[in-house]
Amino acid sequence: MKVNGLIRDLSALKRIGVKRKERILDASPKPLRHDPVKALARILHPERSLLRIDSIIDRSEEVKIIKFTLSTEDNSRFPVFQSGQYLSLTIDMDNTSVNRTFFISSPPFKASPIIDQEANCEPYIEIIVVKKENSISNDFIWKNWKLGKEIKATFPHGRFFYEPLRDSKNLICIAEDAGISPFYSLVYEIIQKDWDLNLIIFYKNKSIQNMVLIEDLKKLVEAVPTKLKIIVLNDNQVFNQEIVKLEKDIINKSTYFVCCSQEMYKNIYEELIKLKIPNRRIRKQVYGETQDIYDEIDFPTAAKEKKFKITILVNQEEKIIESLAKETVLVTLERAGIEKSSHCRSGECGFCRSRIIEGDIFVNTLVDSRRGKDKEHGYFHPCVSYPISDMTIDILK
Ligand code: FES
Repeated sequence: MKVNGLIRDLSALKRIGVKRKERILDASPKPLRHDPVKALARILHPERSLLRIDSIIDRSEEVKIIKFTLSTEDNSRFPVFQSGQYLSLTIDMDNTSVNRTFFISSPPFKASPIIDQEANCEPYIEIIVVKKENSISNDFIWKNWKLGKEIKATFPHGRFFYEPLRDSKNLICIAEDAGISPFYSLVYEIIQKDWDLNLIIFYKNKSIQNMVLIEDLKKLVEAVPTKLKIIVLNDNQVFNQEIVKLEKDIINKSTYFVCCSQEMYKNIYEELIKLKIPNRRIRKQVYGETQDIYDEIDFPTAAKEKKFKITILVNQEEKIIESLAKETVLVTLERAGIEKSSHCRSGECGFCRSRIIEGDIFVNTLVDSRRGKDKEHGYFHPCVSYPISDMTIDILK
């Protein structure tokens, strides 16, 4: 959106009202056969996409770049999205289906049918998948996703993107390991669209295998060294100590985009607050399930290591399943083969919203985005809620 200044924007707003009245008076009294606005919205933002794996590049033993084009079965187009947003992919495993989120690492212009027709190449999106230990879904992708496979997806999701009306023109991006993915897309976009932005990326990486990602990004950044900069930290360097070495003006006037592990995020967030950076200028990626909920100070000690019964109302019928205090209610549902839509798994999108009829949950305050009224009436997000008593819930199908 272009901002022209207060007076010009206000007078433009006044003209919209006049034009609107003229249009209403000129319009035919006959009802429209179809709503062109809704039709356009459906084209630009299809509810669901069917993607086809077009290529899988093994960048190292731990890193794959998966490229998707639209399936020939899908007659729509890629939804409009922004750098920093993510997609939710449905992973159909042997007994169950789960949704997992991945940042889109390719820039939005590569998914646009107009630009890519000009470039004579099919529109596509890419994600970076980094091998994870103890993740069943990650392991499944690693072993089973092959060329030509079709995957259901919904996107875009998330608010981890640059917004000119809200964010500063100086961005400080902090990334750890695969957290570099959203910044790939952003760097491409800045270069392609010649955005008037200055970007400094601080990157720290635990695995030598993941360093391939930074090598790619460095090449891109070298194209515009006046606007873009990458600072790679070694094991002994700490983000906060490096950030304070920047000029005071840059520290105070930048917007911070932080994409790293939960533990690291907590440290960085505390330090940024100490530097008096206002909350509104700190943007965090989707937080995901809390890694070890027992580590949270407020988690009730009496519930630790306990098992609870969850009675679930599904279409007026009752099902009873066993849950563990350390697992979210959503994971418990998935383990029991009960389908419940979910996308962000971070308490952000509201897709898993359900209602507690009886019982108690624990929610980490960092991801508790429920409104006061929702809490009052028992609504909750199973993706970030842990049972701390026997419960009865309605999953609102
Ligand atoms: S999956 Fe998004 S709020 Fe639960």
